[in-house]
Amino acid sequence: MGADIGVTGLAVMGANLARNFARNGYTVALHNRSVARTDALINSYGSEGEFVRAETLQELVESLERPRRVLIMVKAGAPVDAVIDDLIPLLDEGDIVIDAGNSFYEETRRREEALREKGLHFVGIGVSGGEEGALWGPSIMPGGSQESYESLGPMLESIAADYHGEPCCAWVGTDGAGHYVKMVHNGIEYADMQVIGESYDLMRALAGMEPAEQAGVFREWNTTDLASYLIEITAEVLEQEDELTGRPLVDVVVDSAGQKGTGRWTAISGLEVGSPVTTIAESVFARSISSQREVRSVTSQIFGAGITGAVSAEDLYGTGDARQEFVEDIRKALYASKLVSYAQGFDMLTAAGREYGWQLDMRTIASLWRAGCIIRADLLDTIMRAYDAPAGQQPVNLLLAPEFTEAIAECLPAWRRVVAAAATYGVPAPVFSSALAYYDSLRAERLPAALTQGLRDYFGAHTYQRIDKPGTFHTRWSEDRSETEA
Ligand code: 6PG
Repeated sequence: MGADIGVTGLAVMGANLARNFARNGYTVALHNRSVARTDALINSYGSEGEFVRAETLQELVESLERPRRVLIMVKAGAPVDAVIDDLIPLLDEGDIVIDAGNSFYEETRRREEALREKGLHFVGIGVSGGEEGALWGPSIMPGGSQESYESLGPMLESIAADYHGEPCCAWVGTDGAGHYVKMVHNGIEYADMQVIGESYDLMRALAGMEPAEQAGVFREWNTTDLASYLIEITAEVLEQEDELTGRPLVDVVVDSAGQKGTGRWTAISGLEVGSPVTTIAESVFARSISSQREVRSVTSQIFGAGITGAVSAEDLYGTGDARQEFVEDIRKALYASKLVSYAQGFDMLTAAGREYGWQLDMRTIASLWRAGCIIRADLLDTIMRAYDAPAGQQPVNLLLAPEFTEAIAECLPAWRRVVAAAATYGVPAPVFSSALAYYDSLRAERLPAALTQGLRDYFGAHTYQRIDKPGTFHTRWSEDRSETEA
């Protein structure tokens, strides 16, 4: 009997996925560019299951049962292509190549097409949950052909996170759909973290609340509608004391957020498919501005740092009822902004489904994010319910699901107060503000886009449509200003 699956690329994510397969009863062939890493894995964890040691890709392939399944877990980009190029001559028709890294969906589409032409299956799978998730149960978002999922699906489902008996793994759509869904997951992850950051910043700046004290607030919030992994670990990070200085760890960490690119891709794709993912884009920009530390060190001197006006946090929301009400307002602003960012994420998935011909099922996607992944949250269960209705009767925007319409209405006054306070006292809250602007845009019966159209027609004869009759029109701005049908 050959091995059930081969894993190449045994850095921590690949190693943990391999161990997860083995723990679930599969025989796993292991390969890494440097054999030392393969041996180290077998030495440390060989007793966890059946492993086959392969020194070369050829040995790996030869050890596999047919159709062969080879999972690649190397750095996204050129290294993935390099491994694929080495694998192709070793494989036969019907074999399956799996890319479990955070690859860009367009690359996955390209690779899937190229391998399909050679009679091979290429499956891009989104995997979320970090190192622990990979080992104990990640959320898995597989793309590729439906046919390949028949052979691969049961294996993936057995290693995936389990949400009350249901695996957080299901085929989401052809070619790059899996990586696309994972990308949107990451975009939402960026927005989730940014709204948490804005909440922390406002509590600190305007209510004078120290990180350790805020840890208690986040812990409390984790028992509300906000219950989620990211809120839970925020409490842990905020109460962490720096070993060296005894100060809160957040105070000694450089305030410049890195990114590997998935959030940026989400924002770019949102622009491309015409879906206004403002919260995600703002979160990416918030990281960019955080990275401009040198500029900020100059501008903060010249513009003046700290809260504006002759006020102190103590006088604003620093004590008693004022503080309690402010904290509760922030909780609501956070929840409402989070709802908007999920609504935007699902809107972009809908638009991408149309653009790329994927039959994305929003209910299934929400179900995959309920456990194992970074954005896991109670909210996902509610989102699933919102998409319970048969296709065609589902809300066109998630915020229209009755439960969410009500929740937003309930949060709205607090949300407005928080955004107003942030603007009044000069605390940046880009996602709270842009989420509110998005909501108000959706609420508006008329947007100033009519004026934009008028201006475009004035300087560039770009034409416009009228609300009262069909057709395309142009005003002769530089002549007699009469209207003509274009
Ligand atoms: C996950 C994470 C994971 C990784 C991101 C972080 O779902 O397990 O999203 O994929 O942590 O790449 O991305 P940034 O480095 O861009 O924040």
